[in-house]
Amino acid sequence: MIMHNDDLDTNFPATFTWGVATSAYQIEGAAAIDGRGPSIWDTFSHTEGKITDGSNGDVACDHYHRYAEDVELIANLGVNAYRFSMSWSRVQPTGSGAWNEAGFDFYARLLDALATKGLDAHLTLYHWDLPQALQDEGGWLNRATCYHFAAYAAEVARRFGHRVTSIATHNEPWCTAVLGHGTGQFAPGMADPAAAVQVSHHLLLSHGLAMQAMRAVAPSAMLGIVLNQWTATPATDSARDRDLAELEYARSVQWYMDAIFKGRYPALALKHVDASALSIFENDFKEIQQPIDFLGVNYYTRAFVSGETPPRKPECKLGVNDMGWETYPQGLTELLVGLHREYPLPPVYITENGMAVADKLDGGKVHDQPRIEYVQLHLDALRAVIAQGIDVRGYFYWSLLDNFEWNSGYAKRFGMVYVDYATQQRSLKDSALWYRDFIATHKASH
Ligand code: NOJ
Repeated sequence: MIMHNDDLDTNFPATFTWGVATSAYQIEGAAAIDGRGPSIWDTFSHTEGKITDGSNGDVACDHYHRYAEDVELIANLGVNAYRFSMSWSRVQPTGSGAWNEAGFDFYARLLDALATKGLDAHLTLYHWDLPQALQDEGGWLNRATCYHFAAYAAEVARRFGHRVTSIATHNEPWCTAVLGHGTGQFAPGMADPAAAVQVSHHLLLSHGLAMQAMRAVAPSAMLGIVLNQWTATPATDSARDRDLAELEYARSVQWYMDAIFKGRYPALALKHVDASALSIFENDFKEIQQPIDFLGVNYYTRAFVSGETPPRKPECKLGVNDMGWETYPQGLTELLVGLHREYPLPPVYITENGMAVADKLDGGKVHDQPRIEYVQLHLDALRAVIAQGIDVRGYFYWSLLDNFEWNSGYAKRFGMVYVDYATQQRSLKDSALWYRDFIATHKASH
């Protein structure tokens, strides 16, 4: 049992945002209902061999039909906020042209339910599910997609900007670029490192264009972006490992942060990535470098970087999760302290942090002590950050529900709520009860 550090004298501010997070394709299901068009994840998950357990998101957690029950669950956790994403092809089936009113109606109903419970809505516009029709035109490799995205952002902001607390343009663009186009593990399944670099640029450009398009129509919502970030630890003190760790950080974290905050890509990364065919227009960085009202950080683990073959592995003193990711809470502190030093950070929200556990339902209960310890350790790490005066405003556990974990299908369970996929029955895990108590104790400052 890992002990909780109660000696930290900083508590969470009384105004702290406590939340849980999900994304559209991972929970909604209703893939072909009420006019929703297909997205690249429908295509990808229906392609043989792409998803470990052969599953797809056709039904997922059936949240589209069970959203009211799910909002009830969220409220019962005692959180004050919910982060979710909109399925672009549900509200605009082909990603350009006609809007689908039935799709917007679903999100309007969801927002109504959240408002009734007094829950703040944190909306993400793009959590990886590009309308397939846009992919057929080249997807994120096609510069035109950036302009379609900005038009979609403006329409959503116009309709819902006054009803949500924040809107994030992208979730984890690194994943779309690298896993979607560099390695092919994620949709659209392209394995071309040069394409990944171009896609990262277009994602950033689309972010900047969307920010500008939304500003005018959503003056009250906080606008920003969600990035997945980690620290990179060299496996040894050798110059090679240290250089590789520096490069890893430059390619993953600084690539996005520099573009947004400094209007350029880091020179070190540019030297090493396949930028041979990279097309950047003259004003692109001006478009990208828009002020953001908040930065969403998704943190799960660190990168442990070794130049040896086979690569050295970390000791994993605090264990690994069911994905094989090391528990390394200290990385969250190091990461935020480092970012604070290097960039003029806006308020930060931890928009995701969580762990997959091979949970088993046991008489209606799930004893997921490792998840409780994981969250506790990361909240301690966060308190250490806040104690240093860094403006962290909220924490969202990933995820509310067990759900479709992308290419791992339903085999990996991240939820605080267990989902029995055969019956769609939801059961609160021990971690959910623990989180509720933790929030209740820490809501008021002492
Ligand atoms: C990051 C992604 O945003 C989310 O979709 C995913 O399920 C979690 N990490 C866990 O891998």
